[in-house]
Amino acid sequence: MAATTTRFDLKDRSVLITGANRGLGAALCKTILQYSPKIIHAGYRTALGDFEDPCISWRQLDIQDAASVAATVASIKELDVLVNNAGILIPTTTDLAQEMSNLEAMMDMHLLSPLKLIDALLPTLRASSQPMVVNMISMAAFASVPGCEGYCTSKAALHAATQGLRLKHPEIQCIGVYPGPTATDMTAGSIAPLADAMDSAVTIVTGMRDGKTAIFPDEAALAVESLVGAGVATLEQQFTNLLSD
Ligand SMILES: NC(=O)c1ccc[n+]([C@@H]2O[C@H](COP(=O)([O-])OP(=O)(O)OC[C@H]3O[C@@H](n4cnc5c(N)ncnc54)[C@H](OP(=O)(O)O)[C@@H]3O)[C@@H](O)[C@H]2O)c1
Repeated sequence: MAATTTRFDLKDRSVLITGANRGLGAALCKTILQYSPKIIHAGYRTALGDFEDPCISWRQLDIQDAASVAATVASIKELDVLVNNAGILIPTTTDLAQEMSNLEAMMDMHLLSPLKLIDALLPTLRASSQPMVVNMISMAAFASVPGCEGYCTSKAALHAATQGLRLKHPEIQCIGVYPGPTATDMTAGSIAPLADAMDSAVTIVTGMRDGKTAIFPDEAALAVESLVGAGVATLEQQFTNLLSD
């Protein structure tokens, strides 16, 4: 059997996960724990997660609150991996003013707040031997889903921003994760087939360790990858080549 190589070892790494108290964030936390990290700074906004480990340091972190972000950034002295996981899904409404306000909230949540957090943590990340940023996007970044058009718009923006981060910070491994519908509070009541959050977390962490830049962690996401994955990667490379000497 061919030898497998791990391009990124999570052992002894310092990791920050936003929205780690439940859903995919909690599943990622529990999965990364299997790889002996030094510490996981587990962000929670309102309530702690219902799990504990000596490697987990719970941190109150509301990514939309500048003071909360500043306090977290000031207290983290070492960081190898930032996982921008926190998210909200506000369904589409016919009230135009409300729809615009919801879009602003989701653009702030999925685009501006993660970018501000990355900027604030850049000096700490750059001190790592192998810095990594993981952005939890969505397969819905590639085509809008009826009933959550604003959410899809904000995730498409985060997808573009993740490509931009790879160009601006080539020294950082910037990964986009594109899950399909997954069984968490976010999809409660959904009639779509749902992936298991722990299964998806295992696939995401495997992708991080394998050095991937785009991770499609479940069956629905893999179907999207087969339609657009290679095309997007090719375009990204072509655009990069276009402007380099
Ligand atoms: N579930 C899916 O089908 C699916 C599919 C594709 C992509 N995703 C993406 O995957 C990520 C995780 O989703 P999920 O399904 O696990 O959602 P979830 O179960 O609803 O959990 C959302 C998490 O985000 C946190 N959060 C919300 N606003 C925050 C803020 N301002 N600051 C810090 N944390 C905040 C929540 O904290 P509180 O407990 O305090 O509210 C919670 O921990 C999201 O980015 C989501 O868009 C999910």
